[in-house]
Formats: sequence, C-alpha cells, structure tokens
Amino acid sequence: MAVDVLLGLQWGDEGKGKLVDVLSPTYQVVARFQGGPNAGHTIGFEGRKFVLHLIPSGIFHPQTKCLIGNGVVVDPVELQHEVEALEAAGVEARKNLFLSLRASLIIPTQKVLDMASEQALGTGKIGSTLRGISPTYQDKIARQGLRVGDILKSNFKEMYETLVSIHKGRLSVFGGDWDYKDAEDKFFRSIEFIKSLNLVDNVHFLREAIESGETVLAEGAQGTLLDIDFGSYPFVTSSNTITAGTCTGLGIAPNQIKNVYGVFKAYCTRVGSGPFPTELHGEEGEALRKAGNEYGSTTGRPRRCGWLDLVALRYAIWLNGVNRLCIMKADVLSGYDELKVCVGYKTPDGNITRDWQFENESAEPVLVTLKGWSQDITGCVKEEELPREFLDYIRFIESELKVPVTCISVGPDRAQTFWREAVPAL
Ligand code: GDP
Ligand code: IMO
Ligand code: MG
Repeated sequence: MAVDVLLGLQWGDEGKGKLVDVLSPTYQVVARFQGGPNAGHTIGFEGRKFVLHLIPSGIFHPQTKCLIGNGVVVDPVELQHEVEALEAAGVEARKNLFLSLRASLIIPTQKVLDMASEQALGTGKIGSTLRGISPTYQDKIARQGLRVGDILKSNFKEMYETLVSIHKGRLSVFGGDWDYKDAEDKFFRSIEFIKSLNLVDNVHFLREAIESGETVLAEGAQGTLLDIDFGSYPFVTSSNTITAGTCTGLGIAPNQIKNVYGVFKAYCTRVGSGPFPTELHGEEGEALRKAGNEYGSTTGRPRRCGWLDLVALRYAIWLNGVNRLCIMKADVLSGYDELKVCVGYKTPDGNITRDWQFENESAEPVLVTLKGWSQDITGCVKEEELPREFLDYIRFIESELKVPVTCISVGPDRAQTFWREAVPAL
C-alpha cells in the first residue's frame, strides 16, 4: 500500500492545501486526482502566502514530484499562469510538475457555457466558480472532450473546432451574444506552453514510482459534500471528490490505498448555493466569517458559515474510509463562551436522525452546547498548552465519530500545526 489520501470532509476550503504542504516531505509524489481550477488551495510559510488552483500543493518541496492526474480538468491558460507566477516568486515549478496525457482540457467555450447555464438557472443557480468545470466533465462523459494528449496530434485544431461547433449549438439555445475570441487566442498560446511541460501517462508514471518504493499522497479538491454522487445534488461539483475518486482519477487500484486523512474545519463553511443545516444567518454568521476571514480563495466570494456538523462528518468519514482526522482553524473559535455542535437532524416527520439524508434542505439541526475558550491558541505548539475546553471539544468529536483527531491546526502557517502521533509515514 503506497498511497495515502488527503481530502476535505465538508464543502471544500477545509485547509487541504496547507496540510498537503506540511505532509509533502514524507512522500515522493503528490497527485491531484479530480477537480480543476475551481479549487483554491492556500499554503503559508515564512510569511509568504500562495494560492494554487491546479498545481498540487507539494510544489514547494524540491524533492517532491507533483502530478496532475487524469481525473483533473485542466485550463491551460490557468496552468501557464500558475507556473509562471510561482517561477516569478522564485519557486521551481516546472521540473517537478507532471501532467497526465489523459487529463481533460478546459476550452474557452466550456467556460462560456458554464456562465450561460448559471445565468439561465437564475435564482436556482449552483453558484459555480465559472471555471468551466461542469461543461468539461459533461463533454468527457459524452466522449467528445479534448484531452491533454490530443494537443500533440496534427489534427488538434480540427478536433477543437468540432467541439466548439457542438458548443455553439448549445449556446444558441441559451441565446445571448458570447464573445470568446480573445480567450481563444490566449488558449492556443497556452497550448504551446503546455507542450513544454512533462507530459506523462500517469498510470505508468505511478506504477514505476510505486514499484521503486516511492510513496504517493493523493490531494483531494472540493469536499465530500460537493461530491457528484454523494453531495447535496444538484448543488455539487462535477467530479467524485471522495477516496474512490483517487482510483479513477489517478489509475491506481483500491488496495494501494492505506491512510485517509479527513480534513475538516472546527466549524462549517460553504460557498455557493445548496442546503447547509447548521448555517448561521445574520450577525452570528457575519461574526464567524470575519473571525475566520471566510472569503473564497478562488472567487473571493463570502463563504456561508455555521456550526460544526457531526452528522455530515460521520457520513463523510464512512464514504472515505477516514482513519485520521485533521481539525483546522480551531483558533477561529477562540473567544466564544459557548459553542454549538450538531449531533442529529430533525426530519420533516418529527423524528431525529444521525444520518445524512437524501434531501437536507429542511433538516433542522439538533445542537448540543459545549464550553468555549477565550485564549488565543495560534502560538500553541504542544497539546499541554491548549485550553482544556478546546481539548474537551476535540474529545467530544472523537467520541461521536470514533476516529482519532491526529492533527490540530491553529493557524495558516506550516508551523502552526501539531500532530498527536508521530508524523505518519506509510
Ligand atoms: P483548501 O481549499 O482546503 O486548501 O482551503 P483554502 O485554502 O481554500 O481555505 C483555507 C483558508 O484557511 C486559507 O486561507 C488558509 O490559509 C487558512 N487556514 C488553514 N488552516 C488554518 C488554521 O488552522 N487557522 C487559520 N486561522 N487559518 C487557516
Ligand atoms: P477547494 O478545493 C469550495 C463549489 C462552488 C459551487 C459548486 C460547483 O478549494 O476546496 P463548480 O465550479 O465546481 O462547478 O462549482 O462547488 N466549489 C467549491 N467550494 N471549495 C472548492 O474547492 C470548490 N470548488 C467548487 O462554489 O457551489
Ligand atoms: Mg479552497
């Protein structure tokens, strides 16, 4: 078993990027397996801050190979921009970056279609990041999408035009005047750039790595409750964000997977539309948003905020096979006299359930109250320094979820992380 997985258990933005960066020195390969530039993964160290959208969060460690797997949808313009921005900041981004020939390409009309379909949904919109994610996955499943390996073919331009003509047909249904000429010019310039990257068949790339004794950390994007099959459909993203997605998104077998790190915030956030049973509205929500600086890393949109939801976490742990929980942003909760945690939902028929439901739009949370803590914990480096109430908060979570919290994060920097067991290697 050579592969560990790290992924989000809520609605994304749990702090996955930070932890992948922290764990990267333990692995030889870090690999993204799904999603695309809808992701925004923040990494902080030595007073610097980076936000990555496509490049795996292991890129700051020169000995770590970073793979963008076949399950990812890649916008070449965004990828070029990201590589160049890292290089301008003095980070060697090209040498260790490997891009799957099988990854899907996002083309300009897919972004236009994303916008057009969101506009058409009006108030029922998903709240997409408008990065072309859904149209690109739709084309993949419809067996008409473009893949990175296609750019090497002599008829790539023709393949592109064929897809664009399909998109034009769909756009004419939406109506409106969509101009993507500039975007198209940029796209083709970036295609030339992409040709200069390390393009690989990721199946053999990973097999060779694993056979030579290397270990892999699979980096999830989005979160379990945004999974296309198990999230709050239709308010989800268009990929499998769960552990199972690692197999199809990287070309590895399930029996290669060992540990699954489940990352969650000490509270909940969600950006975009859809059910959120523990959401705090009005001043309470605003206060949490301010304390946690909860604005999207990709779109800058304010994130909706609410109490920790153990119903959702239990569901996510089961779906992913999580054996290591990582609690993030606990420092944001400092200063609350009391904290609420959701342990069940009242269903419309008056019953109480501990299970995530098919529909959660009208789920009313059953909240328990725990004692808060007042002290600033951002400087804590040892468990003994943490307030007793915070340790009780963690103990409560563990007793409800039956999985140990092995990692505690008390700030955005690499250094503000501590492990309750030795940093685990495979
Ligand atoms: P990701 O998408 O899961 O990688 O998470 P994002 O980067 O979108 O959002 C997490 C935000 O929280 C980023 O701004 C991080 O710098 C920040 N962050 C991560 N861990 C902590 C933490 O323990 N405390 C605080 N205060 N901020 C954190
Ligand atoms: P990371 O990896 C939070 C949300 C969008 C929208 C829905 C569908 O940084 O955690 P899409 O553009 O995928 O079609 O949008 O999913 N969403 C995210 N929310 N974090 C993300 O990524 C997200 N990626 C997509 O806001 O509700
Ligand atoms: Mg994010």
